[in-house]
Amino acid sequence: MSLNIDAAVLAQNRTPFYYYDMDLLKSTINEIKTCIADKPVKVHYAIKANGESRILKTICNAGFGADCVSGGEIKAAVNAGFAPGSIFYAGVGKTDDEIRLGLELGIGCFNVESIEELQVISEIAEQMHNVAPVALRVNPNIDAHTHHYITTGLEENKFGIDMTALPAAIDFIKSNTSIKLRGLHFHIGSQITINEPFELLCRRINALTNDLYKQGVELEFINVGGGIGVDYDEPDANPISDFRGFFSTILKGLNLLPGQEIHCEPGRSLVAQCGSLISKVLYVKKGIGRKFAIIDAGMTDLIRPALYQARHRIDKLGNNNCPVERYDVVGPVCESSDVFGINEELPELQRGDYVALRTAGAYGSSMASTYNMRQVPGAVFSE
Ligand code: LLP
Repeated sequence: MSLNIDAAVLAQNRTPFYYYDMDLLKSTINEIKTCIADKPVKVHYAIKANGESRILKTICNAGFGADCVSGGEIKAAVNAGFAPGSIFYAGVGKTDDEIRLGLELGIGCFNVESIEELQVISEIAEQMHNVAPVALRVNPNIDAHTHHYITTGLEENKFGIDMTALPAAIDFIKSNTSIKLRGLHFHIGSQITINEPFELLCRRINALTNDLYKQGVELEFINVGGGIGVDYDEPDANPISDFRGFFSTILKGLNLLPGQEIHCEPGRSLVAQCGSLISKVLYVKKGIGRKFAIIDAGMTDLIRPALYQARHRIDKLGNNNCPVERYDVVGPVCESSDVFGINEELPELQRGDYVALRTAGAYGSSMASTYNMRQVPGAVFSE
């Protein structure tokens, strides 16, 4: 099945805009729920992937929690209806104000990324006569075999506490009454399309927790982070990620104690496929030996191709019964990297035709900017 958008919807909305297929979002949520039914698994949606309030409300109504990385995301989660206890807060650079906000609201957990941060959180919690629930984010030094900009679990990355520094962090928590350790947190990278890195992660976690239990450390949960990949090449053939593979790998791989929970934080795999960036062809320009399709969406609307050399499938909407041509599909922004596709094979394009940049629901609108004083794209929902 390919993307089908009502002609009236196209005519009524100013391009470029993000179009969200809410049925697909709900089917994706249901697939996750089926995989984790009766299992000790909790899902916290990584809001950074897409913070549109309609999307947040739909995910909140499914009973999932929220994984946030800023005070802004925490506020968006609260506004969308997430219970404070279901909001987890990660990030290497939490400000004092953001820490206070989390404590005032009573969020479920601070995912702490350094001993320095642990000290600041404990000081602020003490001043507020509060106890901060924390999980330690451990850097497991695993290569997720993904784009180097989105790997996070290697020693060289800025994220998490080095495994060798973990004992000191645990000692600090033990001697401090304004922090309570709830669990361990991991996240090895994003757009991971094979199960091996997750298998390796489970083995690393088991070795680590074995040691910790011997020292009497109690953990309510193990948070394995996000990272499940999506099919950018064939969104219509594979609209839903391999959640079965991911959850069975984790459930089989982790040695859980009775009563312990697994937490995970999918972002991309929940929302990428339900979103497309809809754009109009402004000009078909003949260059030397090539044709440019200049569209009204640019890198300000969807920065992934310019930033990560990411490829989003480009589909022409409407009448495709015409000869195929090749185009460099480019945006209007004054940067040479404002390119969505080189030598793309597409049904012949004319000024006014609509194209869809597919699989753009994650890290699309949430990374949009106003560079060149452009407007950020709007959002249109299928229902
Ligand atoms: N948890 C943590 C701690 C994270 O840092 C991230 C993503 C997630 C969960 C969600 O990961 P996901 O399930 O979406 O892979 N802008 C990049 C992706 C950056 C991911 C950052 N962290 C992109 O467009 O590919």
